[in-house]
Amino acid sequence: MELFTDDVRRNPFPLYARLRADSPLLHEPREDLWILFDYDSVKWALQDHDAFSSVVTTETGTTPDWLLFSDPPRHTKLRGIIMRAFTPRSIANLEPHVRELSRELLDVTVERGELDLVADYSSQLPAMVIAKMIGIPVEDRARFLRWGDIIMKLSYTIAGGDESKRAMVENAAARDEMRTYLAGILDERRRAPRDDLLTRLVEAEVDGERLDAKELLGFFQLLLAAGTETTTNLINNALLCFMESPDQLARLKAEPGLLPLAIEEVLRFRSPAQSMFRSTKRAVELHGRVIPEGKFVLPMIGSANRDPKQFREPERFDIGRDPNPHLAFGHGIHFCLGAALSRMEARVALTDLLERLRDFRLASDEPWQPRQALHVHGPTRLPLRFEP
Ligand code: HEM
Repeated sequence: MELFTDDVRRNPFPLYARLRADSPLLHEPREDLWILFDYDSVKWALQDHDAFSSVVTTETGTTPDWLLFSDPPRHTKLRGIIMRAFTPRSIANLEPHVRELSRELLDVTVERGELDLVADYSSQLPAMVIAKMIGIPVEDRARFLRWGDIIMKLSYTIAGGDESKRAMVENAAARDEMRTYLAGILDERRRAPRDDLLTRLVEAEVDGERLDAKELLGFFQLLLAAGTETTTNLINNALLCFMESPDQLARLKAEPGLLPLAIEEVLRFRSPAQSMFRSTKRAVELHGRVIPEGKFVLPMIGSANRDPKQFREPERFDIGRDPNPHLAFGHGIHFCLGAALSRMEARVALTDLLERLRDFRLASDEPWQPRQALHVHGPTRLPLRFEP
């Protein structure tokens, strides 16, 4: 499908603009996907859980039993369990740790005058932060990073094809490893509780019952999947945006107070999560057509965020844009739990990167290689050269 070639993945925005103008609702018959492109429909699908369920079934089977893929009332209960880990105070407490990690990662590489932003920095920072938040011991972090990667690849299965089969086999093996690992570490927390998310999960109850092993594994996988690659790509995509719009980089340097708005603009302009998934709970009428019940729907966040009906000059990257009601973190009851955390990580990361990678530019003339996952937008590698 045209939507998923590498060229389009690098720059899907002209295609979105064309489709949005032609017909903001596209039915892709081969995979029986219904794709929404305009801001209002995307926002509606994200928030109306009576019409659009988060429990999605694809050709390759049902999605995991995660908070992200659940509807009320179960969703309300599951979300309540981990919500307290994401209070403003918990995020503020993590900030010094993020600063230290960021500095350490850059200390190792900056003198070389060259780095692969993804491998050397942006994939490491969020994974280490989430590992710290969950309570994973430092010596297990490498394993944790690898699992994160494997779980993310599982989202390829939604697009079908060879890659999807490979991802499923890899994931099944990793799931066994994770289950064994998690059983051990949760046992430790039962014996010796600590102030971390693992302890909270062990102690949490839904309807008076403790979470079972499958549910615990689900939380662990969800946080790994949701908390890593999205933030990695927020950092990557920020640097891509600045390389494409040097005037905006100069503006940020002159007015560093614009950083929080600049981060919102990156989220809008190159949204790390280009789409979410829903399935219709009933027949839904949209743009004069009917999506039958039980169909797989992709609300394209990346397209909604460029809708000219909502944003003035949507194809312009403008770090002073305010207000900026983008949908990059979703909308409604599933609104991203990690939004404040990833905003903080991006703030720390960009402050350090813009200071320490002076005059950064792509190290190669080759176009960057996009992530193969259907809904993830960002590079697999981003080799940069700069003045140390
Ligand atoms: C949900 C995007 C970072 C944890 C979501 C949703 C989006 C999103 C669009 C809504 C899903 C839906 O409506 O179906 C992003 C982006 C991020 C980011 C763009 C970074 C730039 C994080 C981080 C964490 C996290 C750092 C955790 C450490 C979650 C969780 C949910 C979620 C647990 C599910 C909430 C629910 O279903 O109630 N995220 N996310 N996210 N996100 Fe994030």
